[in-house]
Amino acid sequence: MDNIFVTGGAGFIGSSFVRNAVKRDLKIINLDILNYAGNLKNLNDIEDKKNYVFIKGDICDEGLVESIFKKYKISIVVNFAAESHVDRSIMGSNGFIKTNILGTGILMDIARKYNIDRFLQISTDEVYGDLENELAERFTEKSQIYPSNPYAASKAGADMLVGSYYRTHKFPAIISRCSNNFGPYQFPEKFIPLIIYRALKNKSIPLYGDGLNIRDWIFVEDHVEALFSIIENGKIGEIYNIGSENEIRNIDILKMILKIMNKNESLIEYVKDRKGHDRRYGIDPSKIRKELNFESKHIFEIAIEKTIQWYKDNIKWAEECIDGSYRDYYNNNYKMKE
Ligand SMILES: NC(=O)c1ccc[n+]([C@@H]2O[C@H](COP(=O)([O-])OP(=O)(O)OC[C@H]3O[C@@H](n4cnc5c(N)ncnc54)[C@H](O)[C@@H]3O)[C@@H](O)[C@H]2O)c1
Repeated sequence: MDNIFVTGGAGFIGSSFVRNAVKRDLKIINLDILNYAGNLKNLNDIEDKKNYVFIKGDICDEGLVESIFKKYKISIVVNFAAESHVDRSIMGSNGFIKTNILGTGILMDIARKYNIDRFLQISTDEVYGDLENELAERFTEKSQIYPSNPYAASKAGADMLVGSYYRTHKFPAIISRCSNNFGPYQFPEKFIPLIIYRALKNKSIPLYGDGLNIRDWIFVEDHVEALFSIIENGKIGEIYNIGSENEIRNIDILKMILKIMNKNESLIEYVKDRKGHDRRYGIDPSKIRKELNFESKHIFEIAIEKTIQWYKDNIKWAEECIDGSYRDYYNNNYKMKE
């Protein structure tokens, strides 16, 4: 196989994909701008491998992207690069629109010139918006796109653009829409690593609103396996939902983690709800199960324990994330008793 061009491969999910791909002996070119969530330490273990190249840069930089296509024979593009943090998109959406929509367009225009075989757009279940209550039917690939926050809207915009390139140019695109991921190397601003990190430090843990919002969790390694099954057997022009059928209320997951960590529930601090906070996410993964024979392998409780252990062993990594560009944001948003 020729090279796989991965964008955003130094982030949480991208680094898990890159690590897995390099271990499979695939040839990987990883382009990442290294924003606050992108961290080369996430890929320490493979940086010297012969089948891996890292390039620091922006997917919106047409000259740079074209030079990569010129230099390396690329057959597959996997586009993880994104501004991905909902709370930041609520503070300002420009960066999200630029990277998530414009960047995707730039990548597709150049990829089209170089006749690639496959372009996998890593999208999210958040493009569907939320489900009203626990009785509502879960999202299928045919559900209406109805994003509720600027991050989700920018990802939905990218999906529309990708769909239009497939229809207009017969561009060989596939879209995947995964539910909420958790696991090692997730930036400690996201819900699960935030809980673990603050519990390790015996600091109060913010919980939005009434804590009854439901998320559908998948272990990052299961997401990555699903992406390989799409790369290998997915059909061009299709959308695949990815999920583990694992819906849990935020309050329940928080209590579960505190229990595993032997911490007191008094650490929980209810904070003002996120604006436009989605109530429930629930992904119907029947299509990928039926058509690509994909099934998540990890058991939620065990994967959570593995994740907690990883943060215990890598507390320095998390501290460095918080000490870096994240510090101001963190201090402004979590002004509460430490
Ligand atoms: N985290 C989830 O639960 C989840 C669920 C479904 C889908 N997704 C999607 O998966 C992808 C990866 O998410 P993540 O959680 O790993 O996010 P992340 O924020 O950890 O990683 C994103 C990476 O993209 C890089 N990046 C940002 N802008 C860039 C640019 N202009 N050029 C090059 N690189 C750039 C960042 O430096 C970072 O390394 C995103 O597209 C996201 O929408 C995430």
